[in-house]
Order: sequence, then C-alpha cells, then structure tokens
Amino acid sequence: MCRLSCIFHSPATGRLTMLSRTAVRMMLLCGPMLITSLAEAADWPQFLGPNRNGTSNEAGLLDRFPEGGPEVVWRVPGGVGMSAVAVADGLAITSWNRQRKQWLVALDVETGDVRWQTPIAESYGNAMGDGPRATPTIHDGVIFVFTGEGVLCAVEQESGRLEWNIDTVAAFGTRPAEYGMSSSPLVVGNHVIVHVGAPAATIGAFDVKTGQPVWKAGQGPAGYSSPTLLDVAGREQVVSVTGDQAIGLDPATGETLWTYPFKTNYACNTANPIVVDGGVFISAGENHGSVLLDIKEESGRYAVSERWSSLHSKSVMRNEWQTSVVVDDYLYGFDNVGAAGPVTHLSCIEATTGKPVWQEARFGKGNLVLADGKLWITTMKGELVLVKVTPEGYQELGRARLFGETRQTMSIANGLGYTRDDREVLCIKLK
Ligand SMILES: *[C@@H]1O[C@H](CO)[C@@H](O)[C@H](O)[C@H]1NC(C)=O
Repeated sequence: MCRLSCIFHSPATGRLTMLSRTAVRMMLLCGPMLITSLAEAADWPQFLGPNRNGTSNEAGLLDRFPEGGPEVVWRVPGGVGMSAVAVADGLAITSWNRQRKQWLVALDVETGDVRWQTPIAESYGNAMGDGPRATPTIHDGVIFVFTGEGVLCAVEQESGRLEWNIDTVAAFGTRPAEYGMSSSPLVVGNHVIVHVGAPAATIGAFDVKTGQPVWKAGQGPAGYSSPTLLDVAGREQVVSVTGDQAIGLDPATGETLWTYPFKTNYACNTANPIVVDGGVFISAGENHGSVLLDIKEESGRYAVSERWSSLHSKSVMRNEWQTSVVVDDYLYGFDNVGAAGPVTHLSCIEATTGKPVWQEARFGKGNLVLADGKLWITTMKGELVLVKVTPEGYQELGRARLFGETRQTMSIANGLGYTRDDREVLCIKLK
C-alpha cells in the first residue's frame, strides 16, 4: 500500500526538501498508484477537520460494521483531556494532563508509538473537568496548541521542540474563561488566532513565527468556541462565536466587519459557526437555540439579518459543544434540551428554513462528523454509532463499543478514524 499523503499535505514547496530517501524511492516504485493515493490522501490537521466544519472528503468507508465492531488498528495509553486528535504528516497529535503537566504528544499514525512529547504547562482542571480543552493545529511543520489557562504555544513538528509560547490572557490583561480556554488555534496566513476574552480583546492574532501579538478584536468573554475561516459576503472572514456575540473579522487586520449579539447563560457558546447556503449558522445550548444569519456587503459596509431563527426554550436545534453538519440543505446535529442539556436528541432540520425534518428522540450526548454520506458519532457512553445521512429518517447502520466516555469527535484521515477518551488513544479501521 502506497501511503504518501504526508508528503503532499503541505502546499509549501520547502517541505519537499524534507522528503526521506525511502519516500522518494517509494514514489518512483509506486508509479501509477501514486495518482490514486494522491487523490485519496486526506489529513485532519485541526479541530473539526481540514475545513473546520466536521466534514471529510474520504470515500469508500464502511457502510456497516463487521461483527464486534470495526477493527481497532492500535490502542495506546493516553491522558486526561478534551483535546481531539489532529492528524497530518504521519503524526496523530493531541494534548492531555499527565503527571501534573499538560503535554503535547505526537504518536505515529501507523503504530501509536510516541514519537515525542513536550510539556507545555502545569496540569489544568476545574469543576467542568480536567485537562486541556483545545485541539492542536498542525500547519506547515509547526503545531499550535492552546493550554487550559490560555498559553498559546508553537512546537516544531519534527522534533517536538517548543519554538515560542505566550500567555495570551496575561498579554491582554484578563483572566482565563471560567471553564477553561477552549479555542483551537486557527492559522490564516502569518497569523495564529485564538479567543482570549479580554475586555478589549475577545480575539487575538499572533505572529506564527514569533508569537508576538499582531491584532486584537472585539470586547468581552471568550466563550468556548473556536475561530473559523469562512467564505461569506463574497470574501474570506474570520468568523467567531464568542461568549456573547458572533463576529466577522478581516483576517489580516482584525477589523470588525459585523457583529450579532448572541448572549447565552454562562457565556457557554461552544459550537462552531458553519456556512449554510451562503449564510452563517450559529447555535448554542442552555435552551438558547439557533439562527441562520445572512451577511450582506454594500460599499464596504456589512449588514446582518436573520434568515430564520429559533431562539427559545423549544428551539429546533440547541448545539452545546457539538457542531452540526450540513448536507444538501439538511442540517444534522445534537439538540440538547434544558439547562446543561440532560436530554439530547439527534435531529435533522431543513437548513435554509429551520423546519424540523426528523428526530431520534433521546439519542443521548455525543459528537458527530460527516464522511462518505454517513455521520460518524462518538457518544459519551463510549460507542461509535454510524448513521446514514438522509432526510428520510433516522437510519442506524452500526453501533459498537470501542472506547470509554468521550466528548471528542472522530478524526478521519486516510481511511482511519482517530479518537480518544481519558485513558487511551485509538486508531480504528473505517474502510
Ligand atoms: C466545508 O467547508 C468547505 C470549504 O469551505 C466546503 O467546500 C464544504 O462544502 C463544507 N462542507 C459542508 C458540509 O458544509
């Protein structure tokens, strides 16, 4: 099998010089096969996948599970934390608490062997759970990771060596968010962007090479969501759902293009914004609900309007920490009922109208990603559940118990799924 995805991941030409001799030989040997592996090559280098919308382009994945569930390729000891697994260039990278420290850990994608581990801060925890919250971002040979207390670190991918770090919370004169700093770093050009939550800097951008602050934007609480690069109103914008608003920013300057108030109890906005039919869909739990925003630009001024909204205690969709996915104008997501969401439905709604389509009542808490026309759901009960993407109704294709309680999504790369709980990291065969 010719698995060369690692070589082609980075568009930067400089990376080609890092090709090992074996890889070059393989390239020559693989010949025609190379085309196929190139086309299929897919990494999951950050939170919610290549486009940060929970969607993988992988095809030909399992349509049902074999007896006893999909094959576990490897399973290795891990640590405590809420960080998901980022996969690129032959490494599966995550972070956790262990022996009184937060660690960034790089595992070999094929074997699960630890390639390196780097301490990035003291261990982190609070009443909402222990360990780092954010998922590391792999970009151009560097890994960016955000600790629970808000220290942003850049670590060299090859060696695991810390290149720089900055206490973003101290830099902007604030304190960490109540439940911990949770935004997974977003890299746009030369900037790495996180939610800081300072009175005069909700969001901060830092130089990828030095960690120096470049711009700041917004005011008020960080919330628990992550900045996202979206194509809306005819341009790329950094769109963030912070503790009390949605905001669109110029990625280069941090200039605020538009805002929309989105105040939730406990500033608990956690799900990521996604594009729905050219608009921006945002959603929160605590009985808050969802809205689809239309953003229009006219001679440099941006106007925000609600295409539909369902913002009340009987809302059609109340995402907590689970970001929904959209397929063919239908949106699939977890609807959490009530404060702290003791009851969770898996729901499908019409994305452009908010009209309910179907609901698997009391499905239970989990997280989902989309690949190959199926939802890959990791549940807090420790199951992997496979559900067909269709507006026709809930169709379960498979269910297997492979891990313990988790809130992480499955990261899908090259036919394999990576996930973790508080004890182990797993690689699961999805093909
Ligand atoms: C995810 O984002 C990419 C890039 O913006 C886009 O092409 C794709 O349609 C999105 N997928 C979904 C399901 O929204």
